[in-house]
Amino acid sequence: MTTTPPHPDLSCALYSADQIQKRINEMADEIARDYGHEEFLAISIMKGSFIFAADLIRCLSARKAQPVLDFITLSSYGSETSSRGSISVLTELTLPVTGHRILIIDDILDTGLTLHTTRHLLYERGAKDIRTCVLLDKPARRSVPIEANYRGFQIKNVFIIGYGLDYNNRYRHLPYLTTLTPPPSP
Ligand code: XMP
Repeated sequence: MTTTPPHPDLSCALYSADQIQKRINEMADEIARDYGHEEFLAISIMKGSFIFAADLIRCLSARKAQPVLDFITLSSYGSETSSRGSISVLTELTLPVTGHRILIIDDILDTGLTLHTTRHLLYERGAKDIRTCVLLDKPARRSVPIEANYRGFQIKNVFIIGYGLDYNNRYRHLPYLTTLTPPPSP
């Protein structure tokens, strides 16, 4: 049986590009205040957070903060619009974490499994301290008790695309955040 794929609600941005930039600037104020001029490792979880991380570290740079950027890719198993049972590392960090202060950057905090697993892994590898930063937070879906230190927007339980977030690797390029809606009835 073939099913019609969901489609994005392109007519109605949940958050516009301007709203996103404004919020990221506010988050950068907070983060720069907390880290001061001390160097820290900013770890962007691929692929969903790459646009958010790029904008955030440039806002941090404007505030004289000293992030050093690295990336990690995690694999997950589950359906395309719902999380996931287990997580493993698909591509590794390139920089050592031992003894470093770390800011984990992710696109969205959903069940909490990704952030929880990543934080645990980095503490095991000897990170000095770890803070977490997400653009979006869906608290209704949480199955692991974790909250982000910095969060952009709290949202309802809807599937989001755009600004790095995808459905089947599509829509990451959209400059705004919108929802994925079921197709209209014929
Ligand atoms: P967990 O459940 O581990 O999920 O907190 C975090 C990861 O799940 C993906 N995710 C989404 N991706 N739209 C997306 O494009 C969504 O609404 C969504 N919810 C969860 C995402 O990869 C995130 O890093």
